[in-house]
Amino acid sequence: MFLADVGGFTSQLCRNGYIHLRRGNPFYCLASHCRFSLRYTSTKETSKKSTETDALLANEKSLIEDCKTPPDKRKKHTAPRSQIFRIYRWNPEKPKAKPYMQQFSLDLNKCGTMVLDALHMIKSRQDATLSFRRSCREGICGSCSMNINGVNTLACVTKIAHSSKPIIIYPLPHAYVIRDLIVDMTQFHKQIRSIDPYLKRPGEDCFLGMRQILQSPRDREKLNGLYECVLCGCCSFACPPYWWLGDKFLGPAAIMQAYRWLIDSRDFTHKERLHKLRDFFSVYRCHTIFNCTKTCPKGLNPGKAVAQIKRHLAGLAKKEGPDLETPLPNPCRGEEIYPCREE
Ligand code: SF4
Ligand code: SF4
Ligand code: FES
Repeated sequence: MFLADVGGFTSQLCRNGYIHLRRGNPFYCLASHCRFSLRYTSTKETSKKSTETDALLANEKSLIEDCKTPPDKRKKHTAPRSQIFRIYRWNPEKPKAKPYMQQFSLDLNKCGTMVLDALHMIKSRQDATLSFRRSCREGICGSCSMNINGVNTLACVTKIAHSSKPIIIYPLPHAYVIRDLIVDMTQFHKQIRSIDPYLKRPGEDCFLGMRQILQSPRDREKLNGLYECVLCGCCSFACPPYWWLGDKFLGPAAIMQAYRWLIDSRDFTHKERLHKLRDFFSVYRCHTIFNCTKTCPKGLNPGKAVAQIKRHLAGLAKKEGPDLETPLPNPCRGEEIYPCREE
């Protein structure tokens, strides 16, 4: 190992950023992974010529620069963390075979942290026939909804809790199964479409998309907690009245979307929207059990939206007028010319 006069030598190395000088010895290379360290020696021991020091210094610098890549501490071997997954299986191509639960074992050290990662790993390494929906893998698209350990949630935002008990995965409850974890969402989407989930301004259709419709920050705030819904269906398929009357009761997801458009200050059709919901089944089958709110993986409160819409239907609450009006342009005064007007 390199021995040098402390005064001249260490000060040079420190200036070059290679050496960290501790009080006392030894000195260590600043590159923490370097296998070289420098030992302190007293000036009496080392009375060498400056040229010799320079040569040694250059030699040491080259050794430091050549030092190997540091070993990655994270890669050190750890004991395997085995986790059992029990997954619902049913194949429509074998209609006579009953559904069953299939067991898979994974080493969590080799797998991502979320349940969706585990499903991907099982599909790629163990059984390519396992079927499930997914797209964004970050809780945005709402397609990976399933029942994990008894809770309807999104697989991509559910962490794998390592335990000796198996993680049990079913498709969404009380839904028609197409295959394995894929359920038929046709009716759910039909109900969402039925509430017209878009802005309606009768008489101004030709202006939509051509100009800015104004909304005050206060009015915009009313949409918070509603617009974030990703239409995963977890809430509707956790709702007992929806299990029994799914063809008539809209379910919490669709009702929350109806409320979101109903209270939007830019929408002019709240009366028509309310009128469409005023029947025995669409909203009033909700018994305020709040399963929907408990299960929502986005932390929203569809149960509250259902309660609010009931208040509007009963006349206990009224939609406020918009804080900001959006005046129509007057093309006669040359304010704005729209292609639709020109036609
Ligand atoms: S609060 Fe209403 S909508 Fe929500 S789960 Fe209960 S019954 Fe269904
Ligand atoms: S309210 Fe929540 S659980 Fe229901 S569809 Fe929207 S994101 Fe999914
Ligand atoms: S994959 Fe999109 S929400 Fe889970």
